[in-house]
This record gives sequence, structure tokens and C-alpha cells, in this order.
Amino acid sequence: MPGMPDTDAALEGHLDSTHAARLESYMAFLRIPSISAMPEHADDCRRAAQWLADALAEAGLEHVEVAETGGHPVVYADWLHAPDAPTVLVYGHYDVQPVDPLELWTSPPFEPVVVGDRMLARGSADDKGQIHAHLMAAGALLATRDRLPINVKYLFEGEEESSSVNLAAWLAAERDRLVADVAIISDTGFFEGNVPAITLSLRGIMYAQIDVVGTDVDLHSGGYGGVVQNPANALATIIASLKGPDGRVRIPGFYDDVEPLSDADREAIAALPFDEAAYLQQHGLPALVGEVGYSTLERRGTRPTLDVNGLWGGFQGDGSKTIIPAHAHAKVSCRLVAAQDPDRIFEAFKAYIEEIAPPGVTTTVRLLGGGLPSVTPMDHPATQAAARALEATFGQAPVYIREGGSIPVCASFSSVLGLPVVLLGFVQPDSHAHAPNEWMDLGNYETSIRTIARAWDELVDLPR
Ligand code: BES
Ligand code: MN
Ligand code: MN
Repeated sequence: MPGMPDTDAALEGHLDSTHAARLESYMAFLRIPSISAMPEHADDCRRAAQWLADALAEAGLEHVEVAETGGHPVVYADWLHAPDAPTVLVYGHYDVQPVDPLELWTSPPFEPVVVGDRMLARGSADDKGQIHAHLMAAGALLATRDRLPINVKYLFEGEEESSSVNLAAWLAAERDRLVADVAIISDTGFFEGNVPAITLSLRGIMYAQIDVVGTDVDLHSGGYGGVVQNPANALATIIASLKGPDGRVRIPGFYDDVEPLSDADREAIAALPFDEAAYLQQHGLPALVGEVGYSTLERRGTRPTLDVNGLWGGFQGDGSKTIIPAHAHAKVSCRLVAAQDPDRIFEAFKAYIEEIAPPGVTTTVRLLGGGLPSVTPMDHPATQAAARALEATFGQAPVYIREGGSIPVCASFSSVLGLPVVLLGFVQPDSHAHAPNEWMDLGNYETSIRTIARAWDELVDLPR
């Protein structure tokens, strides 16, 4: 809003006086090991959902509910007392990734600790820290103004890290109570060097498993080597055929639905402050590789990929064992861009593997999960309101970036609910999400609370 002061003194006062309690609450949330992929943590996911519901109620939100989806529950809450103002649907996820390899953590993943200016724990960044900031922003606004400037509906799910398998159906069934003007998701990050950013697109994903089976049990490689097909060799042949030396995926039709980059897109990407040498050094890498003809940032944000995520079969112990393994397996995923469709890509992937699979073994391919890519227009007024909020609170106008990760529900927000999605995330790019020693910068966390509060003020005039 024009003329709005840069800080809200009452809000600042409240946030200052509640600082210690806020960190305690953040840590309590992080202590719940809500790993969605592991059935033995199903009760923990439920506990995290209930913890959130209690925290939402404590912040002053209404219609708080832990709702069943068939999988881990979703948590809903709202505040709807601004009849002349727009409605925002806030989405985030309370589930986290598994923590292995545990031995690489410097402190236990579910015993959060503050080290310097970082909160260290699984979920501190992806995504518990960011949904906690939303709770704190709502609580602070309600405590100091007794109202919110806009209507807000909160939807937090517990299966994002497992492809959100039950969420699309729940959204469709609950469409009526999810009516809003825009969805805001805080589950992305800042640009390299901790530059405030708004993410304009996310890639989709197709995740599959390849199983190659030869015999019921392993065979003596002396007695059978040179006579039978080796499933591990056969799998290696298949994987080696999936991509060419030019970094391009060889599956026929793979690129059919990829939209070419416009000159304007290429220019915008080239203008980002990306220091490739620093990036290499930060990751301890000798070189970056990928599809020829595209820059690093173009490849990361706008081009589809194919990667092996896991590969196993045969003898894995110390020393040697002379066998022809009975079977071999690979997990393979493709990151997809608009307008690629995960189901169509899976069909093309499967058909190609069936065609190239070596003889003498049985090769099967199955789909494990998928999600559509998503895009938000930069000039949408909600995107611009978020940009003003970032600039007012972080002191720097955001850059607009395209990210390589996936949030499958984004596409459902537009297809099922007809909502534009603004990706307003606050995590530093090297925060070790999904890896050991995940961390959240506490400066970003604190400022993000102010950004969210400010964004609600900036959205008051959103055209509807
Ligand atoms: N928060 C991430 C998505 C993300 C990652 C956005 C990097 C921007 C940059 C999300 O929690 C995530 O990890 N998604 C999974 C989805 C998958 C399980 C279907 C992903 O991208 O691997
Ligand atoms: Mn996430
Ligand atoms: Mn994640």
C-alpha cells in the first residue's frame, strides 16, 4: 500500500517480547519426527498435525481441524472476518524427509539446536520453519490488531515429501471451503548468496523403478559367466542408453511438450547474480555438466532431466563374491517442465526401456509417483504484493527465479481450485534440505515473519 510505514511498531514490540517463546515453540515442532515416508512414523505425523492445530488455535485462528485424507491428515484453519478484502490460501507441509545417513549429523536430527545464527534440525527449513513463521505472523497480527487485514485459510499437509498422494482428491472434495483469490506457499528459497527471491516456476516429476530379473537365486559366475545374461550388466546397459553424451534424454518424444525458452526468459535468467565459480567451490565440484546449449541456471530451472536416484543388485559386502546376481534395480526420476505430463512421460519411458532391454532377463518398469510442473506469472498483482513485502522487510527487491524442485500440489491449486500460486519462500539455497544437518537461518526466519505480516497488508487492495 502506498504510504505504508516500513515497520509496524506494535508488531515489532510484540515480536521482540515473544522472541524466546517463539524459538521454544519452533523447537517443540521440530522435535516431532514426522517422516511421512516411513510407516513407523505415522503416529508422529498425526502428532505433528495435532501440534499444529493447537498452535493455530492458540494464535487465534478459527475452524481449526485435523482432517482425514486416507493418509497422514491435513490441518485446516482460517480467519474470515475481512468481508471487503481478498482471501489467501496458505499452504505448507509438516512432514519431513528421512534422516539417513544419521552418522553424518553433528547433532540428532530431532533434537533441534541453535548453532550461531542457525536452527539445526530436520525440517528446520523444509518446511516446518516456514509454516511456523506463518503461525507466528498470524499470532502477532491478531495479538496487536485483534484482526488480520485480509482473510486467510491455512492448509498444511503431511504427505508432500511422499508426492502428496491423497491431497488432490481432498482438495476436490473440499473445494467449496477452499475458495480464495490466491494461494501463497512458503516452501522455496532465496537465490544464491541469500538474495530475496520469488520463485516463478517449479519443475514437475515422474518417478519410476526399473527391475531386472534373471534367475531365482544368484549363479556361480565361473559356471555361468559368458552363458547367461547378467541382470546388473543389463541394467547398466539400459541406464547408459537413457541419456546421450550431449546430456539429452534419448527417450523418443521426451521433449515434445517442452516449451522453448523465450529470449526474454533467457535474458532474465542471464541477468541473475550467479557466480558459477563460487557455486562450484561451495559444493566441492570440479565441473558442472548437463544438456548442451543451456546455461547452468537454464538447465536447473527450465529444462527437463533424467537422474538415477538409487541403484542396487548383487554383492555389496567387503571383499569379493563371484556371482551373476539374480536381479538388479534402479530408481529413476525425471524433472519435468511445462507442458510435460508425468503420465505421458512414464509411458514413453516404459516403452523405450522395453524396446532397448537386453535379451535373457525380464525387465519391468513401474511408476512410483508424479507431479505436474507449475508456473506463476511475474506480473500477477499478488506476486507484486509479495515482492513489495520482501523489499520492505529484507531491504532488497527480490529477484525472480525458476526452481528445479517440485511441489506437486501447486498444479492442483490451479487445476482444481483455479488459484494462481505465489511461491514466497525464505530458505537459504544451501540449507541442506533432505540432507544431514539441515538448517534455517534465524535471521531469515525472523524477518520472514515480518514479510508475511507485511504481505497481508500489501494484499488488501488485490484486484478480485
Ligand atoms: N520444498 C521442496 C520443493 C523445492 C525444492 C522447491 C527445491 C524449490 C527448490 C519440497 O519439499 C520437495 O522436496 N519436493 C519434492 C517433491 C517430490 C517428493 C514429489 C522434490 O522436489 O523432490
Ligand atoms: Mn518442502
Ligand atoms: Mn522437501
